[in-house]
Amino acid sequence: MELVKEAEQLERSGRSIMHLSIGEPDFTAPPAVVGAAQAALQQGRSRYTPAVGTLELRRAISAFYQQRFGVDVEPERIVVTAGASGALVLLLSALLDTGDELLLPDPSYPCNRHIASTLGARWRLLACGPHDRFQLTAEAVEAAWSARTRGVLIGSPSNPTGTTINAGNLAALCDRVFARGGFVLVDEIYQGLTYDHAANTALSLDPRIAVINSFSKYFGMTGWRLGWIVAPREWIGTLERLSQNLYLCAPAIAQHAALACFEPESLAVCEQQREELRLRRDYLVPALRGLGFGIPVVPDGAFYIYADIGGVAHDLADRRGGSTQFARRLLNEAGVCLVPGKDFGDFESERYVRISYATSMQHLQEAVRRTGAWLGSCGQARC
Ligand SMILES: Cc1ncc(COP(=O)(O)O)c(C=O)c1O
Repeated sequence: MELVKEAEQLERSGRSIMHLSIGEPDFTAPPAVVGAAQAALQQGRSRYTPAVGTLELRRAISAFYQQRFGVDVEPERIVVTAGASGALVLLLSALLDTGDELLLPDPSYPCNRHIASTLGARWRLLACGPHDRFQLTAEAVEAAWSARTRGVLIGSPSNPTGTTINAGNLAALCDRVFARGGFVLVDEIYQGLTYDHAANTALSLDPRIAVINSFSKYFGMTGWRLGWIVAPREWIGTLERLSQNLYLCAPAIAQHAALACFEPESLAVCEQQREELRLRRDYLVPALRGLGFGIPVVPDGAFYIYADIGGVAHDLADRRGGSTQFARRLLNEAGVCLVPGKDFGDFESERYVRISYATSMQHLQEAVRRTGAWLGSCGQARC
C-alpha cells in the first residue's frame, strides 16, 4: 500500500507508471448485471434483505454449484455476505475465541491475520515453498497443531502465488484437521480464474469444509461488495446472528443484480475475460523468466505471479527488506510498480515479489521492456 501511494504520487508529478500491483480485475460487471442493477434501483428494491441474503440469490448460487461443478449445495448452507471480506469476518468471528489459534500458509492474504488479531485470536504462519505449490501440507499442519489450534484457512487459487492446492493434499490435510476436531476454511475467491484445468471447488471433496467466495474477481464486481459462504448446516444459525448484528445484510441492489451473473450471456463474458487473463499469463511467465526472474511453479490461477528476484538482484534477495528495496527502486527508477513479498508473510519474503497481470497486455509489454532496460542499465543480476 505504501508503494502504491508512492506510485500515485509519482503519477501526479507527471511520471508514467505501469501498475503490476493491482489486486482487482481491469474489467467490470457483465452488461446484464449492470442492467439488472439499474432495474432494481428503478423498482426501489433497495430495502434490507434477510441477513443471510435473498432466497433467490442463495438458490441461484446453489444451482451454479450444481451446473458448473456437479456438487449439491443446499441454499440453506449458503450465507450471502459483503464480499469475501465480510465472509472472512463472519466465519472467523464464529469460529475463533480470544487466545485461539488459526494456522495460515506463508505466504498468504494478509487481511486474514489482521482479522484474527482484531478478534483477539492468534495466528501462526506455516512456511510454504515451491515444492508444495506454496500451499499448506498435512504434515506441516500436524506438526504445528497445538492445544490452542482451532483450524486452518487456505486460499486456492492463492493470493499472492496464483497456485491451486492439489486435491490429494487437501484431502490429506482435511483428514488430519477433522480428526482433531478442527475446521478447514478454503478461500475460493479466485474460483473460475484457472487456466490449465477446469475450475473446481473444495466442496466436492468434503462437505465439512467451509468455502468463502465472492463476486469480486471472476465476475469483476469488486466495488459491489458481494460474496458468500458455504458452510456446514450447523454453523448457519451463528453466522446469521452475527450477520444481523454486525451489518444487517449485504447490499440489496447488488444482491438483486447478481442474479444476472449466472445467465449464459454473463458467463460467456466472464469466460472471455478469463481467456484474456490466460493470454497475459502465457505472455508474462516466459517474459519474466527471460529477464532472469525465477518462477518455480507456473501459477495456474488468479492473476498473480510470485517471482523470485534472486536471479536479477542477488545481493538484495537475501537481505532484510530486500524485495521491498527492489520494488522501491524498480518503481522510482523504471516506473514499474509491483508488491514486495513482505506484505504476504515472512518465509523467504525478501526473495519474492508479487506481479499482477490484471492490466492490459500493452501495459505488461511496456513493463517488461522497462524492467529489462533497467536491469540492463544497472548491470543484470547486480542491481
Ligand atoms: C484471497 C482474498 N480473499 C479475500 C479478498 C477480499 O475480496 P472481496 O472482499 O472484494 O470479495 C481478496 C481481495 O483481494 C483476496 O485476494
